[in-house]
Amino acid sequence: MKNLTADELRDTYLKFFESKGHKIIPGASVIPENDPTVLFTTAGMHPLVPYLMGAMEHPAGTRLTDVQKCVRTGDIDEVGDAAHLTFFEMLGNWSLNDYFKKEAISWSFEFLTQHLGFKPEQLNVTVFRGEGQEGEAGYIPADEEAVAIWKSLGIPDERIFRLPREDNWWGPAGTTGPCGPDTEMFIDTGKEKCGPDCRPGCHCGKYIEIWNDVFMQYNKNEDGKFVPLGRHNVDTGMGVERTICMMSGAPTVYDTEIFAPIMKAIDDLRAAGSSAPELAPEDLLKARRVIADHMRTATFILCDPKGAVKPGNVGANYVLRRLIRRAVRFARMIGIQPGFTVKLAEVICEKYKHVYPELKANLETCKLDLEAEEKRFNATLDKGEAMYQKVAEQLKAHGQSQISGKTAFKLYDTFGFPFEMTCEMAAKDGLTVDKEGFDEANRKHQELSRTTSAGSFKAGLQDNSAVVTRMHTATHLLHAALHKVLGPTANQKGSNITAERLRFDFSWPEKMTEEQKAAVEKLVNEWIEQGIEVTKKMTTVEEAKAEGAMALFGAKYGDQVSLYSIGDISKEICCGPHVTNTKELGSFKIKKEESSSAGVRRIKAVIGNLA
Ligand code: SER
Repeated sequence: MKNLTADELRDTYLKFFESKGHKIIPGASVIPENDPTVLFTTAGMHPLVPYLMGAMEHPAGTRLTDVQKCVRTGDIDEVGDAAHLTFFEMLGNWSLNDYFKKEAISWSFEFLTQHLGFKPEQLNVTVFRGEGQEGEAGYIPADEEAVAIWKSLGIPDERIFRLPREDNWWGPAGTTGPCGPDTEMFIDTGKEKCGPDCRPGCHCGKYIEIWNDVFMQYNKNEDGKFVPLGRHNVDTGMGVERTICMMSGAPTVYDTEIFAPIMKAIDDLRAAGSSAPELAPEDLLKARRVIADHMRTATFILCDPKGAVKPGNVGANYVLRRLIRRAVRFARMIGIQPGFTVKLAEVICEKYKHVYPELKANLETCKLDLEAEEKRFNATLDKGEAMYQKVAEQLKAHGQSQISGKTAFKLYDTFGFPFEMTCEMAAKDGLTVDKEGFDEANRKHQELSRTTSAGSFKAGLQDNSAVVTRMHTATHLLHAALHKVLGPTANQKGSNITAERLRFDFSWPEKMTEEQKAAVEKLVNEWIEQGIEVTKKMTTVEEAKAEGAMALFGAKYGDQVSLYSIGDISKEICCGPHVTNTKELGSFKIKKEESSSAGVRRIKAVIGNLA
């Protein structure tokens, strides 16, 4: 096989699919817009769902190819082993009710063997084995069509594995949406089998998955049933990091050219620290990987053109905070001095800025946020460590050797001191910690907070997607009203919508006055009452800008974009969806105006019967 860099791989992939009639489209933001079901873009399909469903036509056509930034933090605690990453890039080719299995599989085979240089003998594939009985409800046949195509390409039956839904079905987890059987491609590393049942997907390291072709023929509906979609889409995903790892023969993704500058920077920072502690090699290795992974993810989130996620205590903000804080904790453990987060962000920006210009455009605000969060957490850790010392001394004075669950929980809940750190420090001091007692205290606490917040889920009873659409149009009106009241520098920095509220970040140096807020609210409500028509047309970015349309700074757009106009009040390049008339919003109310970060204000607002 060839030994390509990530830059070369992206390029080769996009050009290959371009030669097969695909349009190269820009990847979407890593922060999903108007999709309350996920905190981050976890796969290339998220931004394309409306097109996969056939709700609208994609401006670039029915064959698309892209590179998508993805964040998956479900396995955050596994990071540090050889394979887990919380951020990765995914190459994809898409058929929107255009070609299907034959083309998708044949092109995957052609690309892997002829352009990446994998040998056909290294290739092992899995296909969906079907479920249920013919004639019964819920029956889905085995994907014999995919099997036949693989065989026609020369893959023998013993390298085609028929597996159940857990392995060979792809769709949005736990929610509704387009989905279907897939066929996954694995490279045999040549290692010994781990046992008689060793097969692709068994995680022993013999078979590494590098590509997944999903055949979206079904829709998962509200009752959790799979109904034919009436369309045949293809969604494929090839992980850049894993593929580069396989091609270069590196033992893990962290040993590839992608991570090389980041790992080097971590080692340099450690060497510069005055007292690099002695550590077991496996602990040091894990810490370096955690720091590299988490800082890469945090940098991409903070530099996202939407700028809507900042370290905080809820939802996506909390995930970001956790990533940064885990990196800080591990850096502290291996003797890296404070102030390292901004230095790593610079290195990461340098590595990726030619592919993702938003890293360069937003690096300065990203660094401010990292610095502030690192300082805050270091202060918490200093205080927590002091509290822990007190606890440990008292225990020793009383001849005891176990920290109770209640005490560990208090350190965590009241002082923000991570439970893992209590355990680590206790182990060093020859003390034990009552983990069960800690879990019990934590569980009780969570139950309590769930009961007290149960009253806040009322809006969930409404039809979420319709509310989200209305909020989306309200966001455009708010943006236009801010321009009228504050002037043209009050520009969008981020937007996030849930079924409960809209949130809008914009550049403005100071707190808005009561008069300004009232004026904005009044304007939006007047526009709603006037019942203004919302229209959409397809155009190019240049033409849209020439018409005075607003576009997100730092965002990349495809050749053809949709331009939404609300009478002559607002014109914005945007993917929609929107209502057709402003009357549908009912009314508009600002709930909160606050600081988001330096020079950026945040408005939270509601509409209709929530207002
Ligand atoms: N959506 C599929 C995946 O994430 C293929 O792109 O694997």
